[in-house]
Amino acid sequence: MNFRGFTKALRTRWLIVCTTTIVAVLAAVATTLLTTPLYQSTTRLFVSSSAGGKSLADKYSGTLDSQQRVLSYTELITGETLAQRTIDKLNLDMTAQDLAAEVTASAKLDTVLIDVAVTDRSPVRARDIANALSDEFVNMVRELETPEDGSPPAARVVVEQRASLAEFPISPNKPRNIALGLAIGLLLGVGLALLRNYLDNSVKDQETLFELSGVGLVGAVPLDKERRTRPAISFDHDSSSIAEAFRRIRTNLQFLAVDNPPRVIVVASSLPSEGKSTTAINIALALAEAEHSVVLVDGDMRRPMLDKYLNVVGTVGFSTVLSGGASLSEVLQKTTFPGLTVLTSGPTPPNPSELIGSLAAQKVLGELRAQFDYVIVDSSPLLAVTDATILATSADGVLLIARYGQTKREQLSQAIRNLKDVGVSPLGTVFTMTPARGDGSYSYNYYGYGYGRDVAQQSDVDTSDSQQGGRRRAVSKNRQKSN
Ligand SMILES: Nc1ncnc2c1ncn2[C@@H]1O[C@H](COP(=O)(O)OP(=O)(O)OP(=O)(O)O)[C@@H](O)[C@H]1O
Ligand SMILES: [Mg+2]
Repeated sequence: MNFRGFTKALRTRWLIVCTTTIVAVLAAVATTLLTTPLYQSTTRLFVSSSAGGKSLADKYSGTLDSQQRVLSYTELITGETLAQRTIDKLNLDMTAQDLAAEVTASAKLDTVLIDVAVTDRSPVRARDIANALSDEFVNMVRELETPEDGSPPAARVVVEQRASLAEFPISPNKPRNIALGLAIGLLLGVGLALLRNYLDNSVKDQETLFELSGVGLVGAVPLDKERRTRPAISFDHDSSSIAEAFRRIRTNLQFLAVDNPPRVIVVASSLPSEGKSTTAINIALALAEAEHSVVLVDGDMRRPMLDKYLNVVGTVGFSTVLSGGASLSEVLQKTTFPGLTVLTSGPTPPNPSELIGSLAAQKVLGELRAQFDYVIVDSSPLLAVTDATILATSADGVLLIARYGQTKREQLSQAIRNLKDVGVSPLGTVFTMTPARGDGSYSYNYYGYGYGRDVAQQSDVDTSDSQQGGRRRAVSKNRQKSN
């Protein structure tokens, strides 16, 4: 992974990094608050040896003797014998082992000084133990170093500095713990983000879409929360980025097959909830905005949504015509959107695939092709049922939808294989629900300057009325040709 990939992964997964860091800092704060504070008091002992005489060499050998003793003394200070003597002296309610564990002794190299530190939950007790222990050690050394013949002791220890009351605990160290939590959280967050990125095999860029499908990106529809409550965009007074995205798709449809632009288009995707119905509706509306006559067909007989999304009657429709219950003209419904007619799915039949694959269905699509400039067909998920592949064989082409960051590479590949099995290649791909901000939108802009450059350029041309009229004429001519 190069630096750009690294920063992109972090930008995409910033939530993981932030959450992990916050959790780690909170854990550090909680640990700090729950840790019993410990106080430390220290004393300093001075060791002198009475070995040697008055000459310089004797003094030198005396100092050397004291330095050698210092090492043994540090062992005695942290031993359980001295601990027990201190407990007896202070009348403490603890074991010698526990007290010894609270004591540390350190001697600086080439000195005759010993620092004794006592750490305890009570600052008073830490101070008292440090002083009592040091006093007891002075006595202990006197006893140990006094020869049996009663001659003066070979070495003696003096408490050079007595312990005082500690004002602040030495542990927990709040700033250090929080800094540690922050550092560990950040590292862990970045690690998790990179791991998640590595394991994520969803489709998120145009290159992957092209690599899998072999066809170009026709458009990228940004995520727009408003579509959840109002799937249809009011194109007449909407210049939002999502409306522009659909206008771009409209333009690019003209360029997919210049000699014979597709007019009967199935909108398909691998899985449910990838935005097929919403996209189909808005492609139809974008075409209607350019004054094309458009019929939107609900080819998803298992989970029909167009009637609800467009607020039209759903009790009669495609299945009613196919079962001979009504004629096509009787079930076509005008919508509140100028230029857009809808053929809802009708009641769900027991055998949707059979009905969709019938000659009657082909006839209906043929009639719609003759009546309208464009027939946009919403469909069921390609990986779930065969309905969409059957519809695809009667259409001019399929627009294959991939939901940004959700559709997996294998799912898209399988959907394409399903289409190829019936001899259909997608016309192009559409990304849905791309992030409105951040990397997805960046990628989207990038498409405009990558091999999808024409996609962006063509959309600029699209807004001119004269061009719309010209295109309309071109489609009408085409329709007459096909009739
Ligand atoms: N561009 C978008 N921005 C935000 N939400 C969207 C967008 N497109 C679709 N949605 C929402 O995603 C959900 C699924 O959309 P939709 O019904 O169009 O998907 P679908 O592929 O047709 O699903 P199904 O396979 O179940 O028919 C809906 O709640 C819809 O409002
Ligand atoms: Mg749908």
